[in-house]
This record gives sequence, structure tokens and C-alpha cells, in this order.
Amino acid sequence: MLHVIDEVFRLFDAKGDLNYGEDVTQRQHAVQCAALAQRDGFGPQMIAAALLHDIGHLLTELAEDAAEHGIDDVHEDVGERWLKRYFPDQVTEPIRLHVAAKRYLCAVEPEYRAKLTEASDRSLMLQGGPMSEQEIAEFEALPHSEAAVQLRRYDDEGKDTTLAETPIEQFRAALEQSITG
Ligand SMILES: [Fe+2]
Repeated sequence: MLHVIDEVFRLFDAKGDLNYGEDVTQRQHAVQCAALAQRDGFGPQMIAAALLHDIGHLLTELAEDAAEHGIDDVHEDVGERWLKRYFPDQVTEPIRLHVAAKRYLCAVEPEYRAKLTEASDRSLMLQGGPMSEQEIAEFEALPHSEAAVQLRRYDDEGKDTTLAETPIEQFRAALEQSITG
């Protein structure tokens, strides 16, 4: 069962150098997000969610800047479906919801939207724009929406071009524990 983790690492080996879109690679972005979750004392499932949240991009091979070309690659759904074969909801649901969490934050925190990059604002509109009042209420009622919002904040923060790259293998134990509990 844990061969899925080898598969994850193979995928990052093969495609992790793809550009994430803001001068960091997909692998750098993933390890930075995971390191932020670890820094904040979160457990293996949040660390795994942070590390794997954009795996859909590696699976579809479309870069984050696809939005510049008017394409929404729905990477959150691709990633969630692929991961769901092995990982529990605590990992896959925040991933499935991390784009919705951006639409949520843009609706409830105007200063959050103001800080989005141009590319991110463009993809927001492709993703449906800020949530309506009803969408906000529905989102907040979902079991893993809080984790999804937290994941979203790491997603925004994990783009530091000056950081040395943490070897992704460092997160193997967290990935294993996120499955086995
Ligand atoms: Fe991301």
C-alpha cells in the first residue's frame, strides 16, 4: 500500500522541476508548503495535504500559469481523485477544497484578495470569482473547510525564491503516517 509514496516521489522526480509559476518549481513549492505546516506544529495529515496539494498539476502537466491562457486545469479534482485511492479524507478534502478556499477568503477578507498576484486574480475569475453569501455558508459547513483555508494560506506563502530546497524525502515519514494514522 505504501508504494503510493514511492509513486509520489517518482512523480516529483520526473515532473517536479516544472515551473510553479512564480519563479519556484513545483517541488520547491510543495516542500515549502509542507515545511510551513510542520513549522506550525500540524500533524502528518496537514503536512501531507500541503506537500501534495498541487499534485494534480504534475498529473495533468499543465503549469500554474495555464490560467494566463484562459485554461482552468481543475487540478484540485485531478489530485484528489488520484490521492483518494490511498489517502484519507483529512488529506484529500483540504486538497479538493483549496481552490474553493481561495474563493472563500476573497469573499470574507477583502485584504486577502487585494494581495493576490495578477496571475492569481486571473485564475480566481476562471474558478468562479469570490463566493456568494450562500456559498460561504455552505463552505463553512463542510467538515474540512478550516483545514482547506489553512492549506490555502500555506499555498500563498510557499513561494519563497530565496530558500534552500529541503529534500522532499524528508517528508516520507509524514506521508506514511498520514495514511496509517
Ligand atoms: Fe499551490
